[in-house]
Amino acid sequence: KTIDSLGDLRGKRVLVRSDFNVPLAQGDGAPVITDDGRIRAALPTLRRLADAGARVVVTAHLGRPQGEPKPEFSLAPVAARLGELLGSHVALADDVTGPSARKVVGDLADGQIALLENVRFDARETSKVDAERAELAGELAGLADAFVSDGFGVVHRKQASVYDVAQILPAAAGELVLKEVESLSRATGDPERPYAVVLGGSKVSDKLGVIANLLTKADRLLIGGGMVFTFLAAKGLEVGTSLLEKDQIDTVKGYLATAEENGVEIVLPVDVVVADAFDAPAPAGVVPADAIPADKIGLDIGPESGELFAAKLADTRTIAWNGPMGVFERADYAAGTRTVAQGIVDATANGGFSIVGGGDSAAAVRVLGFDEAGFSHISTGGGASLELLEGKELPGLTVLA
Ligand code: 3PG
Repeated sequence: KTIDSLGDLRGKRVLVRSDFNVPLAQGDGAPVITDDGRIRAALPTLRRLADAGARVVVTAHLGRPQGEPKPEFSLAPVAARLGELLGSHVALADDVTGPSARKVVGDLADGQIALLENVRFDARETSKVDAERAELAGELAGLADAFVSDGFGVVHRKQASVYDVAQILPAAAGELVLKEVESLSRATGDPERPYAVVLGGSKVSDKLGVIANLLTKADRLLIGGGMVFTFLAAKGLEVGTSLLEKDQIDTVKGYLATAEENGVEIVLPVDVVVADAFDAPAPAGVVPADAIPADKIGLDIGPESGELFAAKLADTRTIAWNGPMGVFERADYAAGTRTVAQGIVDATANGGFSIVGGGDSAAAVRVLGFDEAGFSHISTGGGASLELLEGKELPGLTVLA
């Protein structure tokens, strides 16, 4: 259901669930938002509702404060940034559904936007007990006449402000959720082929479900990042002191066998940038992937691998990318991620459809200075986009159907 299904919104109080879980750096004074992508992504829905004359009440979480108010997880920096981006003051309630929330909502004029304090300050938000979540959802619903779900990054969570409240109020998907689902379904539905998936990031164990599903869907799987060393080890190679999940080696062996049976090409790096230690001041060099010295740690895919990966992407029609190829935050280990990102941009320019998912790859695109317009879709979801690629049903979406 879309916002249109909610009818005339003038004067109506609309509760919006956004995902404002943004990275913060603790400076000398107030915390600073280091990437406001998720706040900017929320603007189309908020502007649309405000323009329609609604009284907009936004609920969101920041971090995992474990059900208690903690000042370092306050949404105050988000309210300030949101106000700047909208060009109007955004009042912040200092509780979730208490007297301050009721006052802030009561004071809203048509077309104004206010924010409730971090919904995870209330332990009922993430409770596994249905009745506890329902109670908080009832309080949230009491503040509004309709609900718009627009926090795509959190739709994989069965939580009070995502799932339960949508069962109480007339509910609709917001602009961001619609755009994300539409884009991601180009990979999860019937992707145009060749369909390649680039996976990186540190842990195989975070991506088990998605790999298993991709072995039945993708044509090619390009693997880099810390997780690649478990793949190299599964092929019987020495990985030195690189990140290795020993307990996943057998699982990965199974993946390699399934890939062969299904005709899915698994592309692994042929060379690796190594260092003496993770925090060594400079790299020690580039070595073949089948000759990593026992005392070295791999921190990026090497230049030949970057070229190989880019070549494997050149003719693809659908690409999904999740996870950096190396420790891109450090210039010495950013080249692999940069070359692969450029390969994706080139394939997109040739008419391919590309999706960047997961907080780290989206951050890499921005940190490495790529124009976001070079990719077809940059998802605001980490876990949510992975779970969609995994083929799962997400509670925050099914509840809107
Ligand atoms: C995210 O950052 O992926 C979302 O905001 C969900 O956060 P969570 O993993 O703490 O539920």
